[in-house]
Amino acid sequence: MNNPQAPVVEIRTVSKSLPDGRALLTDISLEARAGESLALIGKSGSGKSTLLATLGLMDKFDSGIYMLNGRDTSKLSQSRIDDIRGSSVGFVFQRFSLIPHLSVMENVLAPLRQSSRRHRNGMRARALAELDAVGLADAWKKRPRQLSGGEQQRVAIARALIRRPALLLADEPTGSLDIETGAHVVGQMLDLVAQHLTCLIVVTHDIDVASKMQRIFELRRGGVSELTERPTNRLAAAAHLSERA
Ligand SMILES: Nc1ncnc2c1ncn2[C@@H]1O[C@H](COP(=O)(O)OP(=O)(O)OP(=O)(O)O)[C@@H](O)[C@H]1O
Ligand SMILES: [Mg+2]
Repeated sequence: MNNPQAPVVEIRTVSKSLPDGRALLTDISLEARAGESLALIGKSGSGKSTLLATLGLMDKFDSGIYMLNGRDTSKLSQSRIDDIRGSSVGFVFQRFSLIPHLSVMENVLAPLRQSSRRHRNGMRARALAELDAVGLADAWKKRPRQLSGGEQQRVAIARALIRRPALLLADEPTGSLDIETGAHVVGQMLDLVAQHLTCLIVVTHDIDVASKMQRIFELRRGGVSELTERPTNRLAAAAHLSERA
């Protein structure tokens, strides 16, 4: 059942091993609610992208429970999981995520490709509104290569939000952007998340980005823990991470 009172994401003691048997995620528990923004930090190889893919129902785990919007995902058929991934989860990746031969408008509409033509036509106004929300309504006819990296990321955000997903997952969304453009992209993502009460989980190496989220979690040695003190700048964050390594 879809329970509106339930957290959007609730994982309990989720573990996952790599194909070679090495434990990657060990007894991870995490809860995130509508309108909440979380940062997931941790060293390269700590399993951040894997955890994000698991939350996005793109990757399986070995044991534990994952409730998405109050539904136990382990009890769902693969086709139901595919439906829920399409309707409830939006993804923004680091880069190269737009389809190069499609226009900006067609890219934003891409998550609806299985819908009927009539429905898609109706959604063009919505896609334009999404593009307008990220300041790119005028670019709807362009191809991705005609846009800057920051503009492409904003199109990717519009695309991720077109179905109003309950959960927006972003894996290093500012990794290929300069600091200023990255801050702008994150600001727009947070505005949209607040407006639609989306739950946002961002994987980032950038402590400035992490600091803009309401809560920060660190993945380390297979476990996840919430940072109680917010790192105030890059140096403090680097010191914090190396101290705990
Ligand atoms: N399908 C797979 N098969 C084998 N190893 C894998 C697979 N997926 C991930 N790994 C390994 O799991 C570990 C964690 O990978 P993951 O991509 O989740 O890390 P990450 O924290 O996102 O790192 P980065 O910050 O570099 O992006 C890595 O050692 C990676 O090589
Ligand atoms: Mg990664």
